[in-house]
Amino acid sequence: MSNIATLKLDDKELNLPIFVGSEGEKALDISKLRAETGYITYDDGFGNTGSCTSKITYIDGEAGILRYRGYPIEQLAEKSNFVETAYLVTQGELPTSDQRAKFSRMLTQHAPLREGMVRFIQSFPRDAHPMAVLSASINALGAYYPHLASNNHQRDLEHFDEAAAIAISKVRTIAAHTFRVSNGLSLNYPRPTLGYCENFLHLMFSEPYNEFVPTPEVASALNLFLLLHADHEQNCSTSTVRMVASAGANLFASVSAGVNALWGPLHGGANMAVLEMLQNIHNDGDDGTKFIAAAKSGKGDRLMGFGHRVYRNHDPRAKIIKGSFYKALASLNIKDDPLLDIAMRLEECALNDEYFITRKLYPNVDFYSGLIMRALGIPLNMFTVMFAIGRMPGWIAQWREVAANPKLKIYRPRQIYVGAQQRNFTPINLR
Ligand code: CMC
Repeated sequence: MSNIATLKLDDKELNLPIFVGSEGEKALDISKLRAETGYITYDDGFGNTGSCTSKITYIDGEAGILRYRGYPIEQLAEKSNFVETAYLVTQGELPTSDQRAKFSRMLTQHAPLREGMVRFIQSFPRDAHPMAVLSASINALGAYYPHLASNNHQRDLEHFDEAAAIAISKVRTIAAHTFRVSNGLSLNYPRPTLGYCENFLHLMFSEPYNEFVPTPEVASALNLFLLLHADHEQNCSTSTVRMVASAGANLFASVSAGVNALWGPLHGGANMAVLEMLQNIHNDGDDGTKFIAAAKSGKGDRLMGFGHRVYRNHDPRAKIIKGSFYKALASLNIKDDPLLDIAMRLEECALNDEYFITRKLYPNVDFYSGLIMRALGIPLNMFTVMFAIGRMPGWIAQWREVAANPKLKIYRPRQIYVGAQQRNFTPINLR
């Protein structure tokens, strides 16, 4: 294979280096195109643009492959857990047992919030959207830990381990406190004896009169949910984190921007949309049959939680989470749930119906994760928050990659201006 592509442009020929990734992905390096020809490339929405090189996550959508730091998601789901995977994603290697113990100790140490932060969360209106509170609170962490948020990458990187542990641990406490405050419930304090997921569920659901102890299946479903969301390469929120980081911003400022991007319904909202769809089907007195027929005719809404822009044959995360979902349901003894019946009908249909088979539309991770959240008792407006807790290690790793790049340039895409050409100012009495 040639390592140069030739571009003929006007009366010029330009050699563009071909850049090949470690998994054989090929790209044209156009970084000198503008300087040498005056042209830029146009790629609305960046669908065909590699914005960076990265060593964190590899996805092959056609083959249904997802790997963190080279490790297949299936192996991590089976043999690891969210905390260990968070270490892998942020540090680049699996931890030794000493490293893992130290990381867990740091997460435990950083789980509680400073009293000022607690008051900050309590100061929001009770009906504030939890994503607004989450992003504001994560940004505020920079104010509580100024030595970790100097906005000087070199200095911030010296304290990277501490900042990463604070973000990964506190995001869950912030989320749970937000939930308790908005429901007028007393706050729970993190327990040093509990694991990451058990602690989160305790923070959310323990009452002074009743300690919440999840079944192992429930804790494991939550663990898997978080692990499967830990990173997904250059999606909208991750690109946002990298963009903000490229300006020299600190970790907390950068990842809080990621939370805001995730809040958008086209990004983090799909698992919520699944539940809303099931509720609407149920409210219409339908068992799913009419809805499917309308979706197939192209006249009705699409089936939320089906299909994927990148994974064209199957979503590897959906395959993994599905098993855990059924185990959690069995352990919770959930049987007579009309929404669940509708969900199972949609799933069965999509797997057997010609329309869905030929278009390669199968349940994606959001289909099952929405159902898992519901089974765990997580309210609908917290679904995207749960996604953010899972995605935190990925955002942190991506921030680090940008901050540690010795050749870092601020991200600054170009545009094609299509507005009015130069014109003269009209005084107000003549307009
Ligand atoms: N239900 C019914 N029909 C569908 C669906 C669906 N969910 N998705 C695609 N189609 C049909 C579409 O109408 C088209 O049919 P035809 O060829 O007859 O015109 C065909 O399948 C191809 O559709 P497409 O628009 O080219 O597919 P896409 O790759 O552009 O869209 C998608 C991918 C995820 C946006 C889309 O499948 C969809 O809207 N799904 C529902 C929303 C959803 O679950 N989103 C979450 C995705 S996972 C998010 C994450 O990883 O973070």
